Amino acid sequence: MSRDFPLAHLLEVRDLSRSFGGIHAVEALSFGVTQGGITGLIGPNGAGKTTVFNLITGVYRPTAGTIRMNGFDLTEKRPHEIVRAGVSRTFQNIRLFNRMTCLENVMVPLFARGSSALGAFFRTPFVRKEEKQAREAALAVMDRMGLVEAAHRPASTLPYGLQRKLEIARALACGLSIQGPRLLLLDEPAAGMNDAETRELGEVILKVQKDFGVTMMLIEHHIDLVMAICTHVVVMDRGSLLAEGPPQEIRNDERVVAAYLGRPKKKRI
Ligand SMILES: Nc1ncnc2c1ncn2[C@@H]1O[C@H](COP(=O)(O)OP(=O)(O)OP(=O)(O)O)[C@@H](O)[C@H]1O
Ligand SMILES: [Mg+2]
Repeated sequence: MSRDFPLAHLLEVRDLSRSFGGIHAVEALSFGVTQGGITGLIGPNGAGKTTVFNLITGVYRPTAGTIRMNGFDLTEKRPHEIVRAGVSRTFQNIRLFNRMTCLENVMVPLFARGSSALGAFFRTPFVRKEEKQAREAALAVMDRMGLVEAAHRPASTLPYGLQRKLEIARALACGLSIQGPRLLLLDEPAAGMNDAETRELGEVILKVQKDFGVTMMLIEHHIDLVMAICTHVVVMDRGSLLAEGPPQEIRNDERVVAAYLGRPKKKRI
């Protein structure tokens, strides 16, 4: 497959490195994320994939290198500034507010942006109006993701697959007011899912991309999911870039097969 025109990169990572003591978790890594696409980030356990997300979102500062989003330098920015630039994420291990309802979970990033603690305590008209707007916006996101029926259930009572979906809804809510392009980072959203659940999640991700017009990066070990929905795949091994390209090319890349995918089992006669 050939790319016959240059595609615009929403995110550009250049020579990115991060060490923890003597461990080079990410080492001189460069790649681009095409706007409007789904970029898969794959590689063996410990390859550095989650560290890349932690660097993009400002959880960790890079030891070296740059991260640019839509032309802006995110490299030294704080996590909340990076959220404001349009980046939101989900986590490898689900991180929901378990005792809150699903609706409240999705409202968290939408609510109390401009209000003071005192205003919130006395529930001033400003706070009530802000809360109403947040509720409506959260419900609209949940509606598109088929989560409205669960709105008033505590998050912890949802089946695992729906909790994953709820985390995606919350990440989407995080950047609702942002005018520019948005980047959604999903860290192993299909972890622990069976094949049918994984396929369904793939449909949800494609729907989210279409409905919300977000650019996505997807870390996944479910290779079939990556091959089915990603427009581009970046492969890491031991902190570095091993290969990148369209899914079919990656599937057949000798280095990727040797380091990560393994050879398809021969059929027994
Ligand atoms: N905060 C940290 N302190 C020390 N070492 C870390 C830290 N975060 C990550 N590492 C190390 O960096 C390397 C890359 O870890 P990372 O979690 O990014 O891998 P991964 O590709 O996401 O793996 P997996 O597929 O298992 O989730 C590992 O050796 C890990 O132990
Ligand atoms: Mg990880």
